[in-house]
Amino acid sequence: MVNKITVVGAGNVGATAAQRVAEKELARQVVLVDIVEGVPQGKGLDQWQSAPIELYDSRVIGTNGYDESENSDIVIITAGIARKPGMSRDDLMNTNAGIVKAVSEQVARTSPNAIVIVVSNPLDVMCYVAKQVTGFPRERVLGMAGVLDTARYRAFLAEAMDVSVRDIQAMVLGGHGDTMVPLISYTTVSGIPVTQLLERSALDKIVDRTRNGGAEIVSYLKTGSAYYAPSAGAVQMAEAIVFDHKRILPCAAWLEGEYGMSGLFLGVPCKLGRNGLEKILEVELTPAERVALGKSAEAVREPMGKLSI
Ligand code: APR
Repeated sequence: MVNKITVVGAGNVGATAAQRVAEKELARQVVLVDIVEGVPQGKGLDQWQSAPIELYDSRVIGTNGYDESENSDIVIITAGIARKPGMSRDDLMNTNAGIVKAVSEQVARTSPNAIVIVVSNPLDVMCYVAKQVTGFPRERVLGMAGVLDTARYRAFLAEAMDVSVRDIQAMVLGGHGDTMVPLISYTTVSGIPVTQLLERSALDKIVDRTRNGGAEIVSYLKTGSAYYAPSAGAVQMAEAIVFDHKRILPCAAWLEGEYGMSGLFLGVPCKLGRNGLEKILEVELTPAERVALGKSAEAVREPMGKLSI
């Protein structure tokens, strides 16, 4: 358990993340911050009143300022607008860049030693905004996308093979968009290569559905985007940090030469521990996967170039 975890944005992703953090007792205090008056206070109080039923002692509070969040160990940024049908994540860029910038300034001021987990979209570009504005080292600015994309991939695989999700090991790398790169070559069911268990055509369909996993949910919800799995993904990263688990999870990390690339956030296998990003693992890729990762990086650099912060 750490002393304090702040979640910025008390909307669908943020409020659900705060609840998950409290239920797992990752922190003594959970601070929910939002600009809308009353919403974080009301949701925070409601969550705190769940504690005697769910049996946790994490104290949840909501606020419109950052005083209560001072000296947080971890800050999860979910502030911003979500997609509606027909929108790509990149359509959110200008609005969310302004929001993530404003939030990052406050986080740097009040919690200068925090580890930041960004969830706001377009994810890889918002991570860049957070890193630039906070000035934090790359060890302390990470993005949640790969855990979510991998969870979608694993869920679809488990369903197709009628096996437990627990036994599916996989990694989805690259940017959090249509160019993401599910690594079929590293996908196993308890160590058995998935290619021995599923036809290539079935795998290709699952890869395609994974790439469009977010849009599929937006098309159902119509007024917003996914939040149960995104919040679970962010909290899994926080948990690995809090308990110094040294877990290997696909996260958006700032590249400094890894995979032959520098100066951008991209989904890569990361070791997460109490210091945040402790190592980026460089795994061998097939030529096709390497090309796909390069294309995904281009898709991240393109909107990054249009950004003014
Ligand atoms: N500071 C704090 N909170 C803010 C700010 C700000 N400057 N600007 C907006 N918010 C809050 C909104 O008031 C709202 O409560 O962010 C919250 C966003 O909540 P939702 O609209 O429910 O969006 P959500 O589904 O939670 O998605 C948030 O995460 O997955 C991504 O693409 C998604 O970028 C989106 C983000």
